[in-house]
Amino acid sequence: PITRKFNLLLQRAYLDPDGFTRLVWTSNGQYPGPTIRINKGDRLVVNVTNNLTDPATIHWHGIFQRETNWFDGVAGQTQCPIPSGVSFVYNFTAGDQVGTYWWHSHYLAQYVDGLRGPLIIHDPDDPFLKEYDAEFILTLSDWYHRPSGELLPLRLTPGYSGFNPVPDAGLISGKGQYNCSAAPQGSKCNSTKTPAIYKVVKDKKYRFRIINTSGAAFFFFSIDNHPLTIIEVEGTYVKPYTVNTLPIFISQRYSVIVNANQPVDNYFIRATMARDCIFNSPTTINHDSAINYNVTGIFRYDGAPNATPKSQPYNDDFTKSLLPCRDLDQSYLKPYYPTPPPQDSTIQFEFQVTIRQDRENVTKAYINNQTFIPDLTSPSISKIMLGIDPKQFPVYQNAYVYDKESDVVDIVLLNQNGADHPFHLHGHNFWLIGSGTERVVNKTKYNLVDPILRDVTTVPGGGWAVIRYNVDNPGCWAFHCHIDWHVELGMVAQLIELPTKLADRVLPPEVRNLCLQYS
Ligand code: C2O
Ligand code: CU
Repeated sequence: PITRKFNLLLQRAYLDPDGFTRLVWTSNGQYPGPTIRINKGDRLVVNVTNNLTDPATIHWHGIFQRETNWFDGVAGQTQCPIPSGVSFVYNFTAGDQVGTYWWHSHYLAQYVDGLRGPLIIHDPDDPFLKEYDAEFILTLSDWYHRPSGELLPLRLTPGYSGFNPVPDAGLISGKGQYNCSAAPQGSKCNSTKTPAIYKVVKDKKYRFRIINTSGAAFFFFSIDNHPLTIIEVEGTYVKPYTVNTLPIFISQRYSVIVNANQPVDNYFIRATMARDCIFNSPTTINHDSAINYNVTGIFRYDGAPNATPKSQPYNDDFTKSLLPCRDLDQSYLKPYYPTPPPQDSTIQFEFQVTIRQDRENVTKAYINNQTFIPDLTSPSISKIMLGIDPKQFPVYQNAYVYDKESDVVDIVLLNQNGADHPFHLHGHNFWLIGSGTERVVNKTKYNLVDPILRDVTTVPGGGWAVIRYNVDNPGCWAFHCHIDWHVELGMVAQLIELPTKLADRVLPPEVRNLCLQYS
């Protein structure tokens, strides 16, 4: 296999992605961080140099890390964070994984400050290769003007409402427009930033790899007059399914094909932050209610003037396939290659998830009544390799242990909150066996024939979701809501898979050495 080497230099710098200047956690001087591209089967070697003032890690979202659990990048679970001034090399293969992934810091809420970028694995055997002429990457993110280090303590103040901090703007591929009249006195702000522009040629077809890298926001995504045909969901090819508007939750990825078959002109790309969903249930997608939140880009045909589009948004009333505040109905997504799940599970974990205030009126997140607290400087993986039985971990480590190969796990998620939580599993993708808005699991909704395989799914507010995966990857795998604020409130479990096998492996000395700095 070919080895592909990359450098990521982490450093703070003043940038103004939406026009408002702030200190941004940059990688190689930029935000979003650079795209890392490899081909199927390649070995990826990334030298991360931490020139920030705080520690950091990098997680490779969606990569299974078979045999290399210690390069999963989760502070407190698979490594000690890389101290300031130190370099660390991540070195792994993605096996036969292909598709659209991303990388981000997995230390506190650091990724919302900027440490995130795309990770693409090209597939020479892509069954859709002939269906498009070129491809683009498009990232979505919410954007805060204050660093997470200021927002987090606020969040943990007694009496705080419990809502996520409200973003100041949204960005398409790192570009947004902020109305500077709302900026505090004395800030450096520019209201005339150029939006993200995608240049296309008439009658060509484009694959857009869309990645929601937000800390809290989910988006309704569309391109005026241009339907989106979904062909990939988080590394799984799917039977083409066409939508006008694509709901995309945090950390989800879709590849869509867009046919540039409209008159030569400029068209708006719209990412509408579904922030109304927190306060009420909208009946239509409101593209204009809060201009700072509804970020636009431009889909510009070759030959069109350098002008603002005049195109109109879809009149996307909510229908059976598009619901307010909800994820895309997953039953519309069918794997391109049949990959039926095991018909039964042998292990069932039930996770009651909720956010509420504790006795001191501090907002916390719970999985089965337990708030997760990471042990940042003594990761689970090291404990296991030192021979500590993960069943003896303190309760606040939320460790769920299973040690028999070829078992099949079901995780039953029950959401006691009104809002959806997008849950992500490390080390695997999973079959989404079913989900619904009922208070209890409704087995008549199970799909055991052709469910989608993905690595993030939402558990609907007040509802349930069931995911299934095979026990075949020794490691400490995080399982958490991907709303970064919810992670920091403790909505995290550790799935300790095949610890006996894991304990037999040898932790690379450079991973072990990262912890020396903290002891
Ligand atoms: Cu995108 Cu635990 O990660
Ligand atoms: Cu959540």
